[in-house]
Amino acid sequence: MQKYIMSGFFFAACALAIILMFTLPGKSEVAKEAKPSMPEVVLDATAAEASVKANCISCHGDQLQGGVGPGLQNAGSHLTPEQIYNLVSKGKGIMPAFKDTLAEEEVANVAQWLAQKK
Ligand code: HEC
Repeated sequence: MQKYIMSGFFFAACALAIILMFTLPGKSEVAKEAKPSMPEVVLDATAAEASVKANCISCHGDQLQGGVGPGLQNAGSHLTPEQIYNLVSKGKGIMPAFKDTLAEEEVANVAQWLAQKK
């Protein structure tokens, strides 16, 4: 009788281990959470300009000359697309995070567009 109970425990433990294996996030997923990776997009300058006009010029100026926020006319000279993507997604100081306002692809597109401004 005891043998059956023991093997019951054994199977329960195995089942739990298998479930954990599939539900616990892998190492790569954890790394992704900490540092969002920029989705690959083909630059669409017209769309990027429209997003920036709608979301950014109130602080960065209608010619990106700066205002409340720093000028972005040569943002690409000291920031990579990934850095801009992270900054715009998460926000910085009084700059709001845009990860809930804009689609990831939209932020990536804007980041690439700004990174070309050198
Ligand atoms: C509420 C005002 C505000 C809005 C809206 C805003 N920003 Fe900013 N932004 C700032 C401020 C302030 C900083 C400086 C943050 C700091 O360094 O503390 C900044 C910094 C930046 C930087 C870094 C500039 C550098 O030279 O280091 C980038 C790039 C940027 N913003 C892009 C954007 C984009 C793209 C948008 C629109 C999607 C946007 N911002 C919308 C206020 C704003």
